[in-house]
Amino acid sequence: KEHIEKVKAFKAETLEEVEAFRIKYSGKKGLVNDFMADFRNVPNEMKKEYGQVINKLKTEALEKVNALKEALERDEEAGATGDLSRPGEPIEIGARHPISIVKNQIIDIFSRIGFNVSEGPEIEDDWHNFTALNLPEYHPARDMQDTFFIQTNPDVLLRTHTSSVQVRYMENNKPPIRTISPGRVYRNEAISGRSHCFFHQVEGLYIDKDVSFADLKQTLQYFTTEMFGKSKIRLRPSYFPFTEPSAEVDVYWGLETETDYKMTKGTGWLEIMGCGMVDPNVLENCGIDSKEYSGFAFGMGIDRIALLLHQISDIRMLSENDVRFLEQFKSAF
Ligand code: PHE
Repeated sequence: KEHIEKVKAFKAETLEEVEAFRIKYSGKKGLVNDFMADFRNVPNEMKKEYGQVINKLKTEALEKVNALKEALERDEEAGATGDLSRPGEPIEIGARHPISIVKNQIIDIFSRIGFNVSEGPEIEDDWHNFTALNLPEYHPARDMQDTFFIQTNPDVLLRTHTSSVQVRYMENNKPPIRTISPGRVYRNEAISGRSHCFFHQVEGLYIDKDVSFADLKQTLQYFTTEMFGKSKIRLRPSYFPFTEPSAEVDVYWGLETETDYKMTKGTGWLEIMGCGMVDPNVLENCGIDSKEYSGFAFGMGIDRIALLLHQISDIRMLSENDVRFLEQFKSAF
């Protein structure tokens, strides 16, 4: 009985101590067996109680050994994974891609004046990329956009601009419409430091009653000021099949622009986007009454703006996924 109390109170620091304890009680020459051997010398009237006590000692000892072993092994395992009180290892976090950084900035600026974001497929049909946008078959302006065709007749192609998303948006939504469409576009052009066969655009569309060219200009001025700091813009007359009138937008980089960003390439006027009043034919093609509604559209290349703002010298760096390049944008959120 005394031994049962001892077994219950036993504590061990190491597995060796547990093993010594096991040998002392449960080993071949252990106490339990010793007591068993004495059994036949015990007077008959005490045999019952004696047996019960030995059995109790036997199971207590076994349970103790198992419990101690388990606890010590668990501690050992925890110890192998390190000192739990040590400060944690810092987790390496990635950087946002410069295209995403600039895209998010543009989305943010336009969302503040009520534009939502719309997206569409990169693989398009002829209608959404060309025909609905006032570029009927055999229109010479189709050659302006060096298209990658996936299939001809009926034509399936990689979209050459995200104007295709605007067509889809107009087909599915009623005015007033205020939406910007960011996304990747493809053109069959020679790859160089200045141009690539795919790049990224944000195109914008605003349709309501009485939308005028002055609204367009003011929106562009707001955007460029938010994007580049206090900036001057100029509009040059241009041509797009889906807008009339059309213009090219230049922004002035120079001493007069209190931009937060230092430009690598000198100063002067830099073209950043195309724009214009949506051609009534386009509105009608997309099921919008051109007598009731008017609107403007614009489109810009994200890659070019990213090159400017982050002083990147070669557009190919944007798609090479070199971590030495990408990790430089960790703080550029
Ligand atoms: N879709 C034109 C392009 O990709 C850009 C643009 C959009 C021009 C909207 C005018 C209006 O070049």
